[in-house]
Order: sequence, then C-alpha cells, then structure tokens
Amino acid sequence: MEADKRTAGIASSDRAVKISLQHIQMVYETRNRQMVALHDINLHIKEGEFVVFIGPSGCGKSTLLRVIAGLLKPTAGTMLIGGRPTAKPGADRAVVFQDDSVFPWLNVEQNIEYGLKLKGIARVEREEAVDRCLRMVGLTRHGIRKMLPKELSGGMRKRVDMARAVANNPDVLLMDEPFGMLDAMTKQKLQVETVQIWEETGKTVCFVTHDLEEALFLADRIIILGADPGHIHLEIDPSFSRPRRIGLKMTAEFQEKRGQLQDILNALSGKGGEELDH
Ligand SMILES: Nc1ncnc2c1ncn2[C@@H]1O[C@H](COP(=O)(O)OP(=O)(O)OP(=O)(O)O)[C@@H](O)[C@H]1O
Ligand SMILES: [Mg+2]
Repeated sequence: MEADKRTAGIASSDRAVKISLQHIQMVYETRNRQMVALHDINLHIKEGEFVVFIGPSGCGKSTLLRVIAGLLKPTAGTMLIGGRPTAKPGADRAVVFQDDSVFPWLNVEQNIEYGLKLKGIARVEREEAVDRCLRMVGLTRHGIRKMLPKELSGGMRKRVDMARAVANNPDVLLMDEPFGMLDAMTKQKLQVETVQIWEETGKTVCFVTHDLEEALFLADRIIILGADPGHIHLEIDPSFSRPRRIGLKMTAEFQEKRGQLQDILNALSGKGGEELDH
C-alpha cells in the first residue's frame, strides 16, 4: 500500500477496529406487520478504512448506515465504536445524506461553524476551522462565506454539507448516496475531493452508493448487501494502489472490475440490473 499521512508505517492489519457490528438485526414494525430489514450483520471496520456499501434498492444500506450513526437502535445485536458499546448518535460520527442537511436560514460560514459554536469553541478557532474546511472541499470563491444556501448551486451546497460534517472533526464519516443527485462532472470532482479529504484526515468512512465506478474508485473494501432480509452477500477488495486519481477510471483493469461487479449485482437481484447503476 502507498504510504500516506494516515497510514505511514502502519500496515492495515495493525490498525485498530473502529466499528464492530455483532449479530445486528433490525426489524421495522409497520402497522400489524414486521419487516426484517437487516439480519445477523457481522462486520469489523478498521480505523481509517474506506468502506463502500452497494446492493439492490431496499436491501438495507441506509438502515445499516443509520444504525452505525446511532439514529436507529437495532432490534438485536451489539455495536462497538472504538471498543465501546454504542446505540446513540455522537460527535464522533457525522452523516452526509443525499439531500443536504444545511440550514437554509444560515449562511455558509454559520452552517459550517454551527456544531463548533454549540461546543463553545472560541470565535478565532471557529474562523480557522471554517477556512480550513472550505479549502478542503474546494470552496474558495470570494464572498462565499456570507452566501445563503439558496444562492448556491447543488454541487456547492453539497460541498458546504461536507464541510459542515468534517468541521466537528468526527472520527467516522457516514455518507448515504451523497452525490446521487449531482450531474456527472460535479460528482466526479466531489469523488476526487472526498479521496483527498480522506487522505488528509485519516477518517473512517462508510459510504453508500448505487454507482459502481464510484464504489471502485473510493473503496478499500466494497461490501455487497443482499435483500430479503438484508445481509452481507460478499466483500471485495478493489486493490487499486493509492493515491487514486481520476485517470484510474479509464484503465482496462478498472473497467473489467466494474463489469465483474455489475455481473455479481445482476445475479444477486435476478434481473437486468437496471436499478443497480444509475
Ligand atoms: N421507517 C421504516 N419503516 C418500515 N420499513 C422501513 C423503514 N425504513 C426502511 N424500511 C424498509 O426496510 C428495507 C430497507 O430499506 P433501506 O432504506 O435501508 O434500503 P436501501 O438499501 O437504502 O434502499 P435504496 O437503495 O433504495 O436507498 C426496505 O424494504 C424498506 O421498505
Ligand atoms: Mg438508501
């Protein structure tokens, strides 16, 4: 593996387990019916690992991410974060959903510093954090700090959303189809920035997507979930060296792996895969 700031001198096998899911079960109660969304999920994610979840629509990806975020309490099983049993949200985990979580009534800098203000962080430090996070997500346009979300494009709002998530310096970043609504070019740029943020900060990332190229480009490990009930079907290590840059997607090896992944998903869903890669 290429040496970088995060892992210099630390082999992946020596890194501590950050998230441990043990026999996680999630049953939704709807009217007089029970729906088993996740069944016996066992998973260990290491500190600084970039894990991507893929699988057919409705197989439980978002449910799993919400369990890890502490937004959903599993019906059975145990979750350890940093070795401690956890069932609630915490400042150690930040979530980026498909829809922006930015507050429309706050300007860019107020959105990014919101969590820091709640923690009582002094103004000078907050300003530094806003600057650092804006740079990290590539928002350097003059006057951007005072703009309201409605004055920004979808891609810029998503960048503010990511800056908001990293400003609190969480250990774990949970991203549920964060770029699903963006055009192809913006999506690609944000994928590159996500890799750069991850390389710079060493965060543990759990990322859900339907886009197989996105999964292969970002992941240390791809976890394929199957449905009815949601379970881990297969784990894949894309084994592309790092740092990864966008040209990787043009290589024959990348496209071959993409095809193999598509075949696995098609077989899994038992159909043409039309829902699997949009
Ligand atoms: N609040 C809820 N109440 C009842 N059932 C739910 C609830 N949320 C999700 N489900 C069900 O749980 C299953 C898993 O849903 P989930 O949203 O986790 O799937 P997903 O893999 O994220 O799908 P998609 O790719 O479409 O986003 C689905 O069958 C869904 O209908
Ligand atoms: Mg989902």
